[in-house]
Amino acid sequence: MRPRYISLDPLLPWTQMPRPLPLDPLFGRSAPTEVEIGFGSGDYLVKLALEHPGKNFVGIETGWLSIKHALRKLALSGVRNVRLLQGDARVLLKRLFEQKSIGAVYSLFPCPWPKKRHIKHRLFDQPFLRLLNSRLGDGGTVLIVTDHKDYYHWVLEQAEGSGFVVDAELCPPRYFTKYEKKWLDLGQSRFFQITMRKTTHMSIPVEEDITLKTYCIPRFVPEFFHPKGCRDGVVVEFKETLYDPLRQKAMVRALVVEGNYIQNFWVEIAKEEKCWRIRLAKGCGVVPTAGVQRALDLIYQSAQATNA
Ligand SMILES: C[S@@+](CC[C@H](N)C(=O)[O-])C[C@H]1O[C@@H](n2cnc3c(N)ncnc32)[C@H](O)[C@@H]1O
Repeated sequence: MRPRYISLDPLLPWTQMPRPLPLDPLFGRSAPTEVEIGFGSGDYLVKLALEHPGKNFVGIETGWLSIKHALRKLALSGVRNVRLLQGDARVLLKRLFEQKSIGAVYSLFPCPWPKKRHIKHRLFDQPFLRLLNSRLGDGGTVLIVTDHKDYYHWVLEQAEGSGFVVDAELCPPRYFTKYEKKWLDLGQSRFFQITMRKTTHMSIPVEEDITLKTYCIPRFVPEFFHPKGCRDGVVVEFKETLYDPLRQKAMVRALVVEGNYIQNFWVEIAKEEKCWRIRLAKGCGVVPTAGVQRALDLIYQSAQATNA
């Protein structure tokens, strides 16, 4: 199968990079940086980059398919002032961007989650708007365009107390994204546009990595090893456990959920000369957080208990 992308270069492997991101070295120059959240197939991101060659743009997307489409468009357009990040914007803005490091944020047709029971999934709630505020420089702006009237009113409510002055208007189709075209084809000819301009700074420090503690235990009996997760603020689940008697190594697959941040990784319990070492397996691209430490602690406790 042919990959859709032509070059992976614009895609930043952020879990393996210094955090917060050193924006100037990443772009090879110092220039104002703007962010598009949920860029979908990347049309607007490419348009912005072509129209503003003096600015740097970072696109944030959860979906790999969207990233592949955007990578292809970036390569075909020849723009060099765009970098892409895969992940949840709530996590990435918290961990990767310094306060006051961004000039503008765009989000066109964000998922409106129309059902009542799904409202909790909506992105632009007040905590997220406050986070955007803290990452924006003085006078920085947020542009949100939606086809969905209820979502529009909901965002306007959320914006109260998040340090912005807000301007709201009906607008004609003018962004030419996939979703704008989709709604236009279905007969919608007016969309809801919200522009917010930062007036008061909300201080939210960058969420930093922690130093993980690894463990050494004198004895380990794989037959009695049944690690148990937890659900108290952080969710830790252990999905499967493997043991290779020849290599004297156990592997545990852990799922850790901390708010919006979900990590899936392997922990190894490996025989060394004098002990069994419990640590993250190599190559998992884990971001060291309190939840990851919790998973290591729980595995340590269960591995210890195999001696009892
Ligand atoms: C309805 S689509 C709109 C795509 C594009 N902006 C357009 O107008 O065609 C919403 C996009 O936001 C992305 N998305 C949803 N939640 C996200 C999040 N928390 N962080 C980053 N991207 C997200 C989805 O993967 C999807 O591509």
